[in-house]
Amino acid sequence: SEMCIRDRFETMPAIGQKEVEEGLRFASEQILRNLGEFTEQFQDCASQGLFYKPVKNEDWTNGFWTGEIWLAWEYCRDQRLKDAALKQVDSFYDRIVNKICVDHHDMGFLYSPSCVAAYKLTGNKKAREAAILAADQLISRYHEVGEFIQAWGPMNQPENYRLIIDCLLNLPLLYWASEETGDPKYKDIAEKHIHTAMKTVIREDYSTWHTFFFDMETGEPDHGATCQGYRDGSAWARGQAWGIYGCALAYKYTGRKEYIDIFKKVSDYFLRHLPEDMIPYWDLEFTSGDEPRDSSSASIAACGMLEMAKYLEKEDAEVYRKLAGQFMKSLYDGYAVKDPALSNGLVLHSTYSKKSPYNTCNPYGVDECNLWGDYFYMEALTRLLKDWNCLLYTSPSPRDVEES
Ligand code: GLY
Repeated sequence: SEMCIRDRFETMPAIGQKEVEEGLRFASEQILRNLGEFTEQFQDCASQGLFYKPVKNEDWTNGFWTGEIWLAWEYCRDQRLKDAALKQVDSFYDRIVNKICVDHHDMGFLYSPSCVAAYKLTGNKKAREAAILAADQLISRYHEVGEFIQAWGPMNQPENYRLIIDCLLNLPLLYWASEETGDPKYKDIAEKHIHTAMKTVIREDYSTWHTFFFDMETGEPDHGATCQGYRDGSAWARGQAWGIYGCALAYKYTGRKEYIDIFKKVSDYFLRHLPEDMIPYWDLEFTSGDEPRDSSSASIAACGMLEMAKYLEKEDAEVYRKLAGQFMKSLYDGYAVKDPALSNGLVLHSTYSKKSPYNTCNPYGVDECNLWGDYFYMEALTRLLKDWNCLLYTSPSPRDVEES
């Protein structure tokens, strides 16, 4: 039964409050050490030999670095963090005004943890403007035919006429933009996209497709395909983790009860395919052996479970809070960087894109740190530390708001 799946990890210890604090303390210090090299420039999407190199603000991942700086500032209030993050807000503003590498759907990943955060935490107006421009850019990728936001590539080509499961995490930016401007157009599109995604990317067995194509003429769902998973029919670990967090968001924003049940089943599929220490291999096809892990998926799943727990009945909520604490304990004990000489990142053993004979991705960042792995590790710890309402920084967390 469902409960048995969740009980599989019954005896795994959960992270304690002292370790949560210790984890955030080390992360904040590590980020402070990194500011010299990574204020004008950003950490690369993934480390190489466990060290990040500096890059320009041109990738889909830069927002996670600024987001880490904000989370560190939330934790320790060191003024140097706030100054650096606000400097990066200028870079995000320039990027969206000049449309530098923004022809894709990752506007939420880029602008929520950086600019919405800056606005929520400090009232910075330039950050607000940048984030609204980013929301405009995101809805420009919406297709009426098929009712979804196109992920990648030039619009209106059959080979790019698809959504990807990751996009559920880009939608909080749209809900925030509607709340902020009073214009419902952003959230209306977000809601259409949610319904389309929820009925296509989740398979009958509650594993998930990474990407899903639509017929350009009729808008009918056509077929699923992987890009970063092992093969078409397998479940890419991070896709499943985006699915867990994505279902929690889908429920939060739409209130549709059926999404609670889907959340539970997508979570169960993930849990059923984990190895002993609960940290998934890069694809859930693998449950033992030498394939690399994707530790970022464990942090993402933990964040999604902690988010969903807010809306569940007490007993159910406890199940997911406990699981989240267990994921974080395993990450903290076995995966988190504890020595700055080893790495300038936060969490080891993550996998960005691993090439297989059956997938279409470019290999990069295999068994390394990556920015979202580090960001969601901090987000999960922050959620365990306090009642954090800054869901990808979309809701105000009044005690954190300062006059700017
Ligand atoms: N959203 C891209 C990835 O998870 O690799």
